[in-house]
Amino acid sequence: MCYIKVMFKRFFAWLFGRKKPVLEYNGELPSPNNRIVCKLSLKKGQVYYSVFKDGKVLVRDSHLGINLRGDEPLYNGLMLVRTMTKSHDETWETKWGEEKYIQNKYNEIALYLSETGGKKRLFTLRFRSFDDGVAFRYEIPPQPEFQRLVVADEITEFNVDFNGYAWHIPAYQPDRYEYNYNRSPIYELEHSVHTPLTIETPVGYLLSIHEAALYNYGSMTLKLNQNHSLAADITPLSDGAKAYVELPFNTPWRVIMVADNPIELTTNRMILNLNDPPKDEFDWVKPLKFMGIWWAMYVGEYTWAEGERHGATTRHTKEYIDACERLGIEGLLVEGWNNGWNGDWLQNGPTNDFIHPAPDFDLEEVAEYAHERHVELVGHHETVGYIDNYENQMEEAYKKYADNNIHYVKPGYAGAWMSVQGRREYHHSQVGVLHYQRALELAAKYHIMLDVHEPIKGTGIERTWPNLMTREGARGQEYEGGALFPSHATILPFTRLLSGGMDYTSGIFDVTNSVKRMATTISKQLAYYVTIFSGMQMAADRPRFYEEVQPQAFKFIHDVPVSWERTVPLLGQIGQFYVVARQGRDTEDWYIGGVTNEDAHRVRLNLDFLLPDTIYQAEIYRDGENAHYRENQLAITIESRKVGRMDYLDIWMAPGGGFAVRLKKL
Ligand code: NOJ
Ligand code: CA
Repeated sequence: MCYIKVMFKRFFAWLFGRKKPVLEYNGELPSPNNRIVCKLSLKKGQVYYSVFKDGKVLVRDSHLGINLRGDEPLYNGLMLVRTMTKSHDETWETKWGEEKYIQNKYNEIALYLSETGGKKRLFTLRFRSFDDGVAFRYEIPPQPEFQRLVVADEITEFNVDFNGYAWHIPAYQPDRYEYNYNRSPIYELEHSVHTPLTIETPVGYLLSIHEAALYNYGSMTLKLNQNHSLAADITPLSDGAKAYVELPFNTPWRVIMVADNPIELTTNRMILNLNDPPKDEFDWVKPLKFMGIWWAMYVGEYTWAEGERHGATTRHTKEYIDACERLGIEGLLVEGWNNGWNGDWLQNGPTNDFIHPAPDFDLEEVAEYAHERHVELVGHHETVGYIDNYENQMEEAYKKYADNNIHYVKPGYAGAWMSVQGRREYHHSQVGVLHYQRALELAAKYHIMLDVHEPIKGTGIERTWPNLMTREGARGQEYEGGALFPSHATILPFTRLLSGGMDYTSGIFDVTNSVKRMATTISKQLAYYVTIFSGMQMAADRPRFYEEVQPQAFKFIHDVPVSWERTVPLLGQIGQFYVVARQGRDTEDWYIGGVTNEDAHRVRLNLDFLLPDTIYQAEIYRDGENAHYRENQLAITIESRKVGRMDYLDIWMAPGGGFAVRLKKL
């Protein structure tokens, strides 16, 4: 208490030291290239911001502030005590990702605000203008009369033109983020929607509203408020509060990405840039390609449960490890190895056992077998969202894996709720956010990398915690067999993937399986390895489909890298098609992936991203003549020819199809 008082007095003296407080204010924060301007104003004691690009308004005057439970709201009767500005330009190196180097360049202003009356509470609004967007957050220091708060609501508005079209999935639903996207005018949004929320504005620019560095707070969804403005709707806890926090506290960054066109949006790196660098080396972190005892369960060949068709037996796992070795795939996921999968396993969530294997699975034996063959096992923890049960076992479970040389874990939260101490909480509430963070930090302690299913959405924290290799957090291929449409993969790069990598479980070749018939062609399955970034990429089908059925097509899955040096998006329209080129990390080879929706699409690709005076062997995997996602899914043409940067590639994508190209430098 005493310490807080001393610190507060010093801060207060600094804050009020030099300048006279201001009651009305208008300021501008231009981006480094001056095309984007964030305007800030203090009017009648309240703060507003707006955003312009090339002089055109993108976000009209939007109100800022926080409503508190048991205390006066934090937005009224404000005066501006001081401002501070700075410019920043740094290029940092990623451990893994879509680019090796990322530039972080912005102008910043901090508005130090104080209430003129009442408790005279202080807080800061910090804004950053980048060449590709604007971000801001609330920062609240501890004060003698104000040391903790209960957030009742954040009133943060994003007052974009409601005639813009938004690509959205609903919030507060039992399947979390696993929904198909809808496109509709903003004024038609009746319920809260998740972020990133991508918007086609009437003036032609693209926006995506999201958040960065989400810690210890409810995640932000968006809804129309009484002013007909999009506004933050923070995921509530079961008691209705949005967050309980001790001061000092910074909210997550509120982010508005801005692009001239859809394809430019796909390489916006603000979300990573708004996170801190890691505190440790994390030199043990390594991207991974892995197969799994997995799709066999989806098509009914194996079961997660024990019994005659139990998938995760010692024998099957060794067979899959042998296949990994033969196929040159470095990792293997094993689901259903532990006690708790019998009967209705969703009901067994409260008692799932993450320590003890089923009787027909010898964890030590299997782990040793894998280790001798240099195959990385990916462990699996299906919590069903019962986080008390998981947290009671989490440390022992991670330690057990680490002791057995298992460095990758796929935790899952496939329940409609997070269940904690008998309460039902949203996965995306403060309770969920805190749990995912505890798991991630504990995993780091044991040098374990995570692929989180049913996760909290990405907010770029993998910059700080690079052992967070990937997440699911959107509708993935497990929904094939009726609930996944060809257009989905042409929407994700402009929406969900702006928040980070995704484990889409690509590479299913058994596309005509009667249990799970897929709405895709074989070539499109290859394209995903380039179009959908993930720090852990799955080769999701059973080995025999790679070895016996489609060995030539499998070669691409074998060759394609997981981590990239550079990413160059080539073509795209949301919901229609998307083509991207990426250079393999620390290599001179390039890869191109393209996907289309239900319609066929022909593209002519310029190769001017290649080195001059250099010849590349192009290995092209494209839809065969008459290929179609419904009738003729297996038709694939594989061809090889030499190309240079002056050449172009003419490629036809079948309805629901796609293509993949490897450009190997000769
Ligand atoms: C849902 C996950 O997304 C899937 O990958 C997993 O196999 C099941 N839950 C079972 O844990
Ligand atoms: Ca899932």
